[in-house]
Amino acid sequence: MKTATTIDTLFEPRSVAVIGASANDAKIGYRIVANIVRAGYCGKLFPINPKGGQLLGNNIYSKLSDVDGPIDLAVIAIPAPHVFNVVRDCASNEVKHLVIITSGFSEVGNTEEERKIVEFARGHGMRVLGPNIFGIYSSAVCLDATFGAGGIRPGHVAIVTQSGALGIAMIGKTAAESLGLSALVSVGNKSDIDETDLLEYLAKDDRTKVILLYIEGVKQGDRLAKTLKCVTRAKHVVVIKSGRSKRGAVAAASHTGSLAGADEIFDSVMRQCGVLRAESIQEAFNWARFLADAPPPSGNEAVIITNGGGIGVLATDACEKHGVTLYDDQQALKRTFSEVMPAFGSSKNPVDLTGQATAQDYACALDAALKHPGISATMALYCETALFDTTTFANLLQQAHRRYQETKPIVFCLFGGEKVESIIRQLRTKGVPVFSDVYEAVSALGALYRSWRTQKAPISKSTNVQIDLAAVKAILDRARADGRGFLLASEAQQIAELLDLVTPRSIIAHSLDEAVQAAERIGYPVVMKVISKDIIHKSDAGGVALDLENESEVVDAYQAIMRSCHAYKADALIQGVEVVEMARPGVETIIGARQDPSFGPVVMFGLGGIYVEVMKDVSFRAAPISRREASSMIADIRSYPLLLGVRGEKRKDIDAIVDVAIKLGHLVDKCRDITDIEINPLVVYELGEGAKAVDVRVLFRNQQGGKPR
Ligand code: ACO
Repeated sequence: MKTATTIDTLFEPRSVAVIGASANDAKIGYRIVANIVRAGYCGKLFPINPKGGQLLGNNIYSKLSDVDGPIDLAVIAIPAPHVFNVVRDCASNEVKHLVIITSGFSEVGNTEEERKIVEFARGHGMRVLGPNIFGIYSSAVCLDATFGAGGIRPGHVAIVTQSGALGIAMIGKTAAESLGLSALVSVGNKSDIDETDLLEYLAKDDRTKVILLYIEGVKQGDRLAKTLKCVTRAKHVVVIKSGRSKRGAVAAASHTGSLAGADEIFDSVMRQCGVLRAESIQEAFNWARFLADAPPPSGNEAVIITNGGGIGVLATDACEKHGVTLYDDQQALKRTFSEVMPAFGSSKNPVDLTGQATAQDYACALDAALKHPGISATMALYCETALFDTTTFANLLQQAHRRYQETKPIVFCLFGGEKVESIIRQLRTKGVPVFSDVYEAVSALGALYRSWRTQKAPISKSTNVQIDLAAVKAILDRARADGRGFLLASEAQQIAELLDLVTPRSIIAHSLDEAVQAAERIGYPVVMKVISKDIIHKSDAGGVALDLENESEVVDAYQAIMRSCHAYKADALIQGVEVVEMARPGVETIIGARQDPSFGPVVMFGLGGIYVEVMKDVSFRAAPISRREASSMIADIRSYPLLLGVRGEKRKDIDAIVDVAIKLGHLVDKCRDITDIEINPLVVYELGEGAKAVDVRVLFRNQQGGKPR
């Protein structure tokens, strides 16, 4: 096995061979060569076709072995049945990277052929991009090895896309949107190289300021999350993920043969990593274009300057939604803007110059905001009026943008007729961040602030926890020997003790007499739960009785539990009951950790109780997590104010939840056999009084290594 080359050569190859280069301009092999020539690739180009001849001024080599000298990258555009043979030739020629355009592999069920190619390639030190891709563009060496429309404008945005068709169409779209690219890579079936590999290069590439990812399904999400956490400290990262809806997820899963992860988890993990998730391609492009050129804000507070009250209010609403804080020092606002507005204008933020304002007033107000040290960004809104001289307006805005460019972010929103629309088009081609919709303008600025906050924040290191993992494993092994994939309550209780969780006092009873004695020892009220390896869902089987206040209630409950459980499953082996202290009331939460098919270990937190399934007020983080990440996961749920204390109630012990979240995350990270651990409810008390894990459930991989039963 040869050591694989670094990913750098994929973006900066010194030589490229196109296998399947055709003189027929209707073929993909022709288009790729034509784009490489047209983009002015700096390295050596070797078109390969058994027929030989000339193509666009280049000699065609009839076979790869005729090429004299090293080949860094081979683009393969011949039918699937012939690809493996060509890959073998590539190995003999010490090719470093294979860019396999060809379709007809795992995306249509031809997984074995794809696996064979990758295994062979990796065994010979080659990395594989694709198959089923449209190619790669890299501005570093002016390489357009795609079969797109051509005319890619070099710039600072790198696009990595799983969708071939959308990605190839983005070539034309980016040109139409004046979006300059540093790279454009199609990952297709991700048989070897995936987004994470590409991020390693893009993170250190000086040309790239923004990375835009189009993702359909995530494989090895824990690796992706770890990388993204670092990359977002250096670059703005925007993601679009299809498969948000259940129907969309099914379509995406069948599209490139990869599974789309659960959307809520994807969303939470992206936020945890500091990635900006866009709702649409248009939004992603808007953000990318703005982020690529905007200077970082120097502080948190922004100002709205407008000649229209209504649009100013719309912008204010949008600021709240997109996390843009408005500068609020009224005295300073008055001092700064009073000279540039009519007496009936408003210097409050939004600064309203009124419909009477002229272009000159507008320019002066923008300059005043630029000079004010407390204002870190400006939203310049304009509604078309007859008082503005639109012929010079475009020039005025362009100059304002130039003055801002090195110092402060500015976004423009212009609203009006054909003249205004033409100014927007004109300014966009000059790189001025101008929008016709106020929400789009504010959303772009919001994206910048969010990314800037991420870049300032240190990377969260997971908090270390001491857990006796050998003891955990021994408990699982014993249950496994019993043929189970879940733990009994008493075993789950032992795990809780190993995690040092606070649980209600409990005693196991094997008879009615023992149950009564246990209740007396614990003190009333108590809860009684059946213990049976044949009954996982105790409540469904009538195996749980709550709030038992005296001996006679304990006797009745014991008999009722035995009757119901036998009726539920006649042959169920019942080992006894667990008599448990009835936890005093508090805020019922649910907290769990599991192995997610896309992201590996994840932690979940939400408001518990009987409505948990309906309310779905939960949040997730990729595990293991730090205290900061645990706190932000807890703060993410809609019902968070309940934990802060509402209607005069005291704040709840949020730190106690943080402790539990960290421990569960650490456990499922270190012990990957545990597929699910869930505490429902975790009853949270007032600050300083902790939280009690009332019911702990644990599922794990049984000895077959398959799913828990
Ligand atoms: N070495 C070099 N050249 C060869 C070899 C070889 N071993 N074998 C064949 N060729 C030549 C052929 O002779 C032909 O040249 P010619 O036109 O001079 O005769 C050329 O390579 C191409 O071979 P064809 O058999 O004509 O194949 P064709 O071009 O029709 O299709 C392709 C090849 C494009 C790879 C096709 O199999 C395919 O997979 N198409 C789908 C590609 C795709 O959509 N990818 C996903 C992109 S993303 C998206 O969805 C847009």
